[in-house]
Amino acid sequence: MLLPLLLLATIPPTISEESKVPPYTLPDPLVCADGRKVTDAKTWNEVRRPEVFRLVEENMFGRTPDTSKLQAVVEIREQSKDAFGGKATRTQFKVWPIGKKGPSFDMLLYVPNAAKRPAPVFVGLNFGSNHTTTEDPAVFVATSWVSKQWALKGTTQADPALRGGQARRWEFETLIDRGYASATVYYGDFEPDHPEGWKNGFRAAISPDGANTQWKDGEWAAIGCWAWGLSRMLDVLEKVPSVDAKRAAVHGHSRLGKASLWAGAQDQRFAFVISNNSGCGGAALNKRIFGETVGVISGHYKGRGFPHWFTARFETFSEKEDQLPLDAHYLLALAAPRPLYVASASEDSWADPLGEFLGAVHADPVYQVLGQPGLATKEYPPVSKSVGQTVGYHIRPGAHDILLEDWKNYADFADRVMPAK
Ligand code: GCU
Repeated sequence: MLLPLLLLATIPPTISEESKVPPYTLPDPLVCADGRKVTDAKTWNEVRRPEVFRLVEENMFGRTPDTSKLQAVVEIREQSKDAFGGKATRTQFKVWPIGKKGPSFDMLLYVPNAAKRPAPVFVGLNFGSNHTTTEDPAVFVATSWVSKQWALKGTTQADPALRGGQARRWEFETLIDRGYASATVYYGDFEPDHPEGWKNGFRAAISPDGANTQWKDGEWAAIGCWAWGLSRMLDVLEKVPSVDAKRAAVHGHSRLGKASLWAGAQDQRFAFVISNNSGCGGAALNKRIFGETVGVISGHYKGRGFPHWFTARFETFSEKEDQLPLDAHYLLALAAPRPLYVASASEDSWADPLGEFLGAVHADPVYQVLGQPGLATKEYPPVSKSVGQTVGYHIRPGAHDILLEDWKNYADFADRVMPAK
C-alpha cells in the first residue's frame, strides 16, 4: 500500500487538458500595495512598477547585483565585410565585462552592408555555441562548457563538427536582407546551464565569496545571470557605430525567452522585447497549472526540473500557485510601454500556448494606462495569424522551436516599432 502512495507523491500533477484548468484569480497589476488603483503613467512609473518589479525579483529570478562600476574590456578578434556573400559585416568580439580578471564572452555580430544609417539590432543568446547558429565557417567555436548535445563525445567541449547545427533557429540572412543587424552569444559563456554551472560563470566571478558562495533566497540565479549577459551585450553594441542600440530587440527561445523577458524588464534600453515559447517562468500564467508547473520547473520533485534557474522562493509555490502574489502578466507588464511580442507553438503544450496568450491579455491594462493599445484583443487567434498592436502574439503551427515564421513576424513587427528603412 505504501509504495503506490510514495510513487504518487513523486509524480508531478500537470494538466494538459483545458477542461481541467482550475478556477483561478489573478492579482491586479494596477492595484498598489496600499490599495490605490493606478490610473496614470506617473503612479505606474513611480509607485506600482517598482512594486511589480520587486515581486518578480523576490519570487522568481532574484536580485541582480549592480556591476555598473566595473570596467569592461572589449576586443575585436575578427572582422570581415564578406559574410553572407558580401551582404553583411561579421564582427567577433571578446568581452571581459567585469575586467580582465574575470571571465569573458564571445559575441558574434552581423551588420547589413547595405544599411544607410546605423542598423537596428536583434540581441539574443544561443544554446550551443556561436558556431552552431550559422554555417559561416569563420565563426569561432565556444570554449566554455557545453551540454552533451553540443559536446565532443565524452567531453564538455563544443564539437566543431556541429557548425550550423542550430542554423534553422537563426534567420540572420532574412534579417540582414530586411536591414537588421543580429548579435548573439552562447549562453554558457555567462553561466553553464547545470546546478554547479554558476561556479564557472559570472555569478561566482561577481560574488565576493566566489565559488564558495552560499546563495540566499532573493539572490540571483541562472536566468538572472543570462539576462544580465544580454545587457552586457547591449553595452558593447552601444559603442558600435554601424549599430543603433536605441533600436534593439531582446529575444530568446524557451529558457532563453524567460531570460529575455527578465532582461527587458530590468533594462529599459531594450526598445522591443520578444518571448518565443518561454512558457513556465516566462509568458505563461502559472495559476493555470497547465503543462509545466512551478513545482516541476523549480526542482520540487527530486530529479526533475531546473532549481538553479530561479531564486529559492519560487519553489515554495509548488502546488500552491493560488498563493503566488504575482503571475506571468506582471513580468510581461514590465516591458510596457515598449513593444512586446509573445509567440507560442501549437504543439508546445508543455509551454501552455493559451497561458502565454492570456499572460499578454492580462498585461494589457498596464499598456493602456500608459497610453498604448497593447494587444487590444482578448480573442485567441487561429494558428499563423499575428495579432496585436503594441503587444504582438502569434501561434505558429508545430513544435517547440523558433522558425522562419516566427522570425518573419518579429521582423514585420520590428518594421513598425524599430524600422530599419
Ligand atoms: C525544458 C523546460 C522549459 C524550458 C525548455 C527549454 O523543457 O522544462 O521550461 O523552456 O526546457 O529551454 O528548451
